[in-house]
Amino acid sequence: MTPQTAVHPALNRVLFDEETLRARIKELGAQITRDYAGKRLVVVGVLKGSVIFLADLLRAIGPAVDVETDFVAVSSYAGTASTGAIRTLLDLRQSPEGKHLLLIEDIVDTGLTLTSLTETLRAHHPSSLEVCTLLDKTECRKVPFTPKYVGFKIPNEFVVGFGLDYDERYRQLPCVGVLKI
Ligand code: IMP
Repeated sequence: MTPQTAVHPALNRVLFDEETLRARIKELGAQITRDYAGKRLVVVGVLKGSVIFLADLLRAIGPAVDVETDFVAVSSYAGTASTGAIRTLLDLRQSPEGKHLLLIEDIVDTGLTLTSLTETLRAHHPSSLEVCTLLDKTECRKVPFTPKYVGFKIPNEFVVGFGLDYDERYRQLPCVGVLKI
């Protein structure tokens, strides 16, 4: 499959196929392993979009890192437009105080979700707090936000697949593609 081949009738085109995603996630895992070697790291998936990325990324982190996993849920978009309102729906099971936290997100768009979430978590005094996102729409920021780990920068187009949805659909696609609207 070439990156331009559509694999689903809902897609205009494929941006990243399975092979490309797998290779980049392996690189991110290696980088995270180097950066946190010898430490205990709490990898926190932001539900629901990050779950497929998180599952692959966790397996790309080597045994040099002592990994714990946890999840948070925040309210997100209805359809393709930002509501602007961010609400925490599910909180961490354990206090983040004194822990190294790595938040895993599917995509950073306006930056509002992660700005709000990182501010909330920082108030609980983690030892460190970084963000790893599969995709980054840098040109869409409403607030400045720079994740430390980025899989791919993408232009301002609505994408689905590999965990990303449009009203809860298309998360199961094995690639990331631009949705036909
Ligand atoms: P932000 O607060 O605007 O940065 O939004 C981040 C969240 O918006 C992501 O976790 C996604 O749930 C959603 N989102 C933003 N852009 C897209 C997209 O192109 N496809 C699917 N979801 C998106």
